[in-house]
Amino acid sequence: MLIKNVRIENSKNTSDIRVEEGMIREIGGHLEPLENEDVVEGQGGLALPPFVDCHVHLDTCLSLDRTGPNLSGTLFEGIRVWSEYRKKLDKEEVKERALRTLCMYRKKGVQYIRSHVDISNDLTAFEALLEIKEQVRDEIEIQLAAFPQDGVMTSEKVRRNLEEAVAMGADVIGGIPHFELTREYGEKSIQYIMELAQKYDKLVDLHCDEIDDDQSRFLEVLAAKAYETGMGAKVSASHTTAMHSYNNAYCNKLFRVLSMSGINIIANPLVNVNLQGRFDTYPKRRGITRVKELSENNINVSMGHDDIYDPFYPLGNGDMTQVLLMGLHLCHMMGYRELNDSYRIITHNGAKTLNLSAQQYGIAAGRPANFNILKGRNFFEALREREGIQYCVRKGKIIYRKE
Ligand code: FE2
Repeated sequence: MLIKNVRIENSKNTSDIRVEEGMIREIGGHLEPLENEDVVEGQGGLALPPFVDCHVHLDTCLSLDRTGPNLSGTLFEGIRVWSEYRKKLDKEEVKERALRTLCMYRKKGVQYIRSHVDISNDLTAFEALLEIKEQVRDEIEIQLAAFPQDGVMTSEKVRRNLEEAVAMGADVIGGIPHFELTREYGEKSIQYIMELAQKYDKLVDLHCDEIDDDQSRFLEVLAAKAYETGMGAKVSASHTTAMHSYNNAYCNKLFRVLSMSGINIIANPLVNVNLQGRFDTYPKRRGITRVKELSENNINVSMGHDDIYDPFYPLGNGDMTQVLLMGLHLCHMMGYRELNDSYRIITHNGAKTLNLSAQQYGIAAGRPANFNILKGRNFFEALREREGIQYCVRKGKIIYRKE
């Protein structure tokens, strides 16, 4: 297949991309079609590597019809509603919802996903998603994070489930230090999770400081451990919304340890702005981590959808440009260059967070033919007009085409 006239990652000039046997064979300014070669006219549109959603919960997505509503819209009611529903979780029902969610992602050009899966109560959802991960492998690559939603320090059962999920094939070990009963337990939970990850050579991604409390400071503990153990970029901290409320002097100190550690930060703008600031009157905090300042300090920041139509977030359709757009507004990243370059947050930065190999990701000859073509001469235009994905190519095949 020959894709004609696309602008690769904001390039001013157009290129043609030749795809053979699932790989990008050749990129050039003007390639002639071979005999019997399919030709796709890119019409000067923008070619980007696939979008990466670094943080979602496929076990909860699209469950809102079944769980019943979250009337207050708060995190605490969300946890209460979900905790009730998860007692009667059915494996087939989880798989059916996950497949529908992945279908939405596919149309939005997302080919890499990290999904947390709550293992606190039992492993029903985890088993379901292990099967789904294999089933969809050709179209979407999923990393599964075993997520102890209830915290690990006060429950032997949660620790048992977590370790079992790791043995079953979790890619990532999750945690939630700020939700443990005490600050001391939060620190102990990080120690326990990091030791487990080292023992089994797993990645780590914690729900970290997802609270408006400016005293919630587990990120520094996690980053210090990532530094000391040498795990570095294998470790991610999701949310880190408390950073919104830290004082600048502390942030300055914190950024030093973040830089030293090489840790990744994952912001979830749609859900953060929905769930944070709920205890504020006015002014209300935006409750998102410092994406702009972290990026300026060369700390890798990616983004996640977190929830789609579930007790924690009632909207969403798997569109990472919508997630990004909310983040850019909230973080005052609306300068032309910031907007134009921001595709990197939901592409390359995400790939780095997921520890994808450099040879497996990106539009270059010799790499897998995985990419999207969007309308617009550059990402600024694509983001402004948001006409969506025109073509989604995976392993050299068009898996979605806008009619
Ligand atoms: Fe989450």
